[in-house]
Amino acid sequence: METAITVRDLTKHYEDVTAVDHISFEVKKGEIFGFLGPNGAGKTTTIRILTGLIRPDEGEAFVAGFDVLRNPIEAKQRIGVVPEVSNAYIDLSAWENLVLIGRLYGVPTQKLRENAMNLLKEFGLYEVKDKLVRAFSKGMKQRLLLCTALVNDPEVLFLDEPTSGLDVESARLLREKVNQYNRDGKTVFLSTHNMEEANQLCHRIAIINHGRIAAIDPPENLRAQSMELQYIEVAFNKPINPQEFSQNPNIIKAVSAGNKVRIYTANPSAVIEFLVDFAKKKRLQILSLNTMMPSLEDVFLKLIRGKEAAKQ
Ligand SMILES: Nc1ncnc2c1ncn2[C@@H]1O[C@H](COP(=O)(O)OP(=O)(O)OP(=O)(O)O)[C@@H](O)[C@H]1O
Ligand SMILES: [Mg+2]
Repeated sequence: METAITVRDLTKHYEDVTAVDHISFEVKKGEIFGFLGPNGAGKTTTIRILTGLIRPDEGEAFVAGFDVLRNPIEAKQRIGVVPEVSNAYIDLSAWENLVLIGRLYGVPTQKLRENAMNLLKEFGLYEVKDKLVRAFSKGMKQRLLLCTALVNDPEVLFLDEPTSGLDVESARLLREKVNQYNRDGKTVFLSTHNMEEANQLCHRIAIINHGRIAAIDPPENLRAQSMELQYIEVAFNKPINPQEFSQNPNIIKAVSAGNKVRIYTANPSAVIEFLVDFAKKKRLQILSLNTMMPSLEDVFLKLIRGKEAAKQ
């Protein structure tokens, strides 16, 4: 499998802060790779290094087959970037922005006109192409940024929290476009702190915290890694002391939660059988029984807290 991005031991310090701390990973060609982490985790710093805006203190990175430190021009020509903060020129029109960026990338004039036209139509901005970007709403600006990022037909697209601040509809449109671009075999590197977005879009997710990678896995594996976070909630027609369940080897922990008992287990089906037997023996009725799977958010918090606990 060919790689689109290779990162080895990348490190960046700002005075006393280590923004990126010896991270290594590979992104396969054609993959949507999520970079999920809280504020200050090092997502933007990593993207800025990979897109040639800043130099790392240590380590190396290859994008679309080129070393971003040794061959920055070649690497840059093959990427598109939607940065964290809009870099659109507000005193130029949408059309002028696209032409300007396309020229910077060296896209031939005819090809550039064609690409710009198609993109503006596709993103619903064709009607407003001659308006100054100053008058654009946040959603329109973000769509324009994506057009700008795509105007040079990039092989790898970097998106730094592209849907942050967008309404549901605009965010969905943007995700659809990202998916569409990816279906043509292109690679996407997406930073976000929206778990649901990472879950929906990404083939694999790296979880980053304090400049370090806590895990890299497909979303479903991240969930599976935290199977002990799943639980069953059961309610009987009479109160039950959770202590009664402490002997069962499949039960990690049982606690009261209102009128229910919450039972943590890595083996829900065995516990459900046990609960049905238990109810029969004790002549109890089961009023409700639900298996709760961990959300990606639970997993995220567990991984981050786990690493922090391990450090102390
Ligand atoms: N130019 C800079 N000068 C000094 N410190 C910086 C600079 N840029 C980033 N940092 C610090 O590096 C760390 C990582 O920041 P970064 O912007 O990469 O995080 P992030 O994951 O993108 O966060 P967010 O989700 O808030 O965008 C933070 O502690 C931040 O304060
Ligand atoms: Mg950021």
